[in-house]
Amino acid sequence: MNVQEIRHPLIRHKLGLMRRAEISTKNFRELAQEVAALLTYEATQDLAVESYTIDGWCGDVEVEKLSGKKITVVPILRAGLGMLDGVLSLIPSAKVSVIGLARNEETLEADTYLEKLVGDINQRMALIIDPMLATGGSMVATIEMLKKAGARDIRALVLVAAPEGIERVNRSHPDVCIYTASVDQRLNEQGYIIPGLGDAGDKIFGTK
Ligand code: PRP
Ligand code: URA
Repeated sequence: MNVQEIRHPLIRHKLGLMRRAEISTKNFRELAQEVAALLTYEATQDLAVESYTIDGWCGDVEVEKLSGKKITVVPILRAGLGMLDGVLSLIPSAKVSVIGLARNEETLEADTYLEKLVGDINQRMALIIDPMLATGGSMVATIEMLKKAGARDIRALVLVAAPEGIERVNRSHPDVCIYTASVDQRLNEQGYIIPGLGDAGDKIFGTK
């Protein structure tokens, strides 16, 4: 399985706070961005760096900078926006490509309402962000749009993942690694993750 469950103590602590039924919109938002930043740190461990020399306080110093492929962050609207600032806090110059999807609550399939990708996506690592990987329909639809546009190195950052969603993404796109704060137990009859976080979009936007 191409999935990494990041069991860092800070992530486990923050996710525990996010699972409280009575959490405020403010707290949920803050924690979603913080966990997103921690997942970004893990998902970018293998970025290439190159050495160069700078004029330091005591003379020439050899330092390093990121080299090679650049990054585009791909939030899946709307809940993915709740992770964007956390990712950009670590990669401030990343370009943002936006995919608008809404899960049809009857069929659980994803309907696309927006696709606005950076032009040179074939030269960038794509970091998809969405708090929830449930059936996997939204993630698979997004990966297919990105691949059609030329993206080759695609990674997914999700706060919580259901085994069913991981299985679906892995079956269709085994090259895409999923970084998650938690692999939860299962989906319920309505396609919600158990124990999960409830409706992440509503919690981030305060709509319910
Ligand atoms: C949620 C979530 C994912 C999707 C996951 O979005 O943010 O995008 O559902 O479900 P899936 O794995 O079964 O496709 P939703 O469609 O509720 O829209 P929202 O972000 O606008 O709240
Ligand atoms: N979307 C959510 O917001 N939560 C779930 O548990 C499943 C899909």
